[in-house]
Amino acid sequence: MSASRDLRARVQALREEIERHNYNYYVLDAPTIPDAEYDRLFRELQTLEAQHPELITPDSPTQRVGAPPLPEFRQVTHRVPMLSLANAFDDEDVAAFDRRVREGLGQDRIDYAVEPKFDGLAISLTYEDGRFVLGATRGDGYTGEDVTANLRTVRSIPLRLRTRHAPRRVEVRGEVLMMKKDFERLNAAQREAGDKEFANPRNAAAGSLRQLDSRITARRPLRFFAYTMAGADGFALPPTQAQLLDTLAQWGLPVSPERRVVRGLDGLLDYYRGMAARREALPYEIDGVVYKVNRLDYQDRLGFVSRAPRFAVAHKFPAQEALTELVAIDVQVGRTGALTPVARLKPVFVGGVTVTNATLHNEDEIRRKDVRIGDTVIVRRAGDVIPEVVAVVPERRTGKEQPFVMPTRCPVCGSHVERPADEAVARCTGGLVCPAQRKQALLHFASRRAMDIEGLGDKLVEQLVDHHLVHNPADLYKLGPAVLAGLERMGEKSAGNLLAAIEQSKKTTLARFIYALGIRNVGEATARDLARHFGGMDALMNADEQALLEVPDVGPVVAASIHEFFREPHNREVIEQLRAVGVHWQESEPAARARGRLAGKTFVLTGTLPSLSREQATALIEAEGGKVSGSVSRKTDYVVAGADPGSKLAKANELGVTIVDEEGLMRLLKG
Ligand code: IVH
Repeated sequence: MSASRDLRARVQALREEIERHNYNYYVLDAPTIPDAEYDRLFRELQTLEAQHPELITPDSPTQRVGAPPLPEFRQVTHRVPMLSLANAFDDEDVAAFDRRVREGLGQDRIDYAVEPKFDGLAISLTYEDGRFVLGATRGDGYTGEDVTANLRTVRSIPLRLRTRHAPRRVEVRGEVLMMKKDFERLNAAQREAGDKEFANPRNAAAGSLRQLDSRITARRPLRFFAYTMAGADGFALPPTQAQLLDTLAQWGLPVSPERRVVRGLDGLLDYYRGMAARREALPYEIDGVVYKVNRLDYQDRLGFVSRAPRFAVAHKFPAQEALTELVAIDVQVGRTGALTPVARLKPVFVGGVTVTNATLHNEDEIRRKDVRIGDTVIVRRAGDVIPEVVAVVPERRTGKEQPFVMPTRCPVCGSHVERPADEAVARCTGGLVCPAQRKQALLHFASRRAMDIEGLGDKLVEQLVDHHLVHNPADLYKLGPAVLAGLERMGEKSAGNLLAAIEQSKKTTLARFIYALGIRNVGEATARDLARHFGGMDALMNADEQALLEVPDVGPVVAASIHEFFREPHNREVIEQLRAVGVHWQESEPAARARGRLAGKTFVLTGTLPSLSREQATALIEAEGGKVSGSVSRKTDYVVAGADPGSKLAKANELGVTIVDEEGLMRLLKG
């Protein structure tokens, strides 16, 4: 029947095409079609198989979604044991290995096939006549567990070898792992769902592979890299390890793109150093590199000692994780006032150095990981990054561990600590006075859009603070030529210029002054709004949150920051000092009471007006004491709508705000 033959042919073509895309994507890392197109092919195959279940075979890509859970894993005895590797920890160990190999073979110089040591889980894949029939974990090397159903879900493992001359039987051996990016994404999802996070990609891969329900494994982004084969039957092995890897690659198996052939001890050590330098940048974790004598006949001649081959060695990188005791949690204050809890650790050697401190990021992280003082913790130090506490080892708890409490006062300056409800970071509110934030605060204060003190840059602020000449911005105005002359790279002339710039900055505007204070969430625009709304410094300093919320464009978060800032006596004191040393500005009537036909009224512009530009309309409204805001809220009095209005018009309708056109605006302006 030709209909059924067509159907079979279509199903077969779809399978081949889908597997080819899996291969391009997961093995070659070079997808050739958009995801949507792939999904379409996949759905077509699913539909055909649903209509004709008799066509389903275990090697159909649709079968990669997992099968119903198993009661337990079946034991598998490895036909060829899965051995381990001897380790080398330094150059001498490697030299000794190379010497033993050379002496064993009676050769001067040896070619080695080298590649990363993947930090995952060893597995063995059995292919019979090119079909994937059995997947097993390493177990104790002699007996492992049958995880075939789980491995079927791993897209980079071919269900059929891509060759017409497949061996009758062969075991492909390699490592299952999780890419760093996929691991981060998985943990983010786990966190979102309130599920337990994994300490590292290796644990995540192990947890995913050992699921009795392979449908769960199917949703986990596992990868595979092949590094050798065993028990080949009906297939003549090539003469070298490198060619063996090439063969695996030709069969459609992922092999490391970092694999090389190098010569002699120098070649080994060069490769090691190169990979160590690239370790962080690799998309997956590695814990060293593996050296294997390249010629397979040499490998056979060298043979094995106890459980490890004589022809290979693993040259390990320093471990990036270690266990130690967390003896205390201190709180550090950063340059922006952020409070960071820091773990004090019993010294431990990790990532090549002795680590005594590790970051805990913030309060939420401590809660999430349930880190307590006295816990045994996993500490991680990767490359140049700050060491961090990855997880606790709950099994080591004695019951004496103490939970952490975030201080309510800054440990550096004693100011209040605030933590907005929607933020993870707690902050010191003593922006102007906190020694931890001094340099940052001074630089901001002097910056061009703030007090505009020309010549007061990084280096100078650094020196002024380090020599205890300046503690807060008011101290700048007390500097004299004698003091400045004592600083590095400060001639008489530049000292004079700087003093003149400081003097000149005394005459400023209220908006600049407010901005210069460096209140969190108060940028230039908000500072201008505040100046206009309150007219004077005292009114602003004494405003409660309710009063602050009346300022157009000021919401609860900004209002809270401003209120917190002025609630801090230290900050008020510095403002008094600044006024005392002569910083001054022109004050004005508060905007609400100012005169003008539109005084106290807030407008929002949307769409294109027939004759006025946005700037012109704004100027006209402001000239009459009105205020133009960027977004519609309950505080908006009028929305001026032109052609093609945006969502603001809808919002205005929703809130019942009066809507006028350009003509209506002109009428309001004229009274
Ligand atoms: S070769 C007979 N190559 O390291 C030698 N092993 O201690 C077989 N491993 O559990 C191993 N990356 O899973 C080899 N590129 C690599 C490897 C590698 C990781 C693991 C392997 C084994 C352990 C050996």
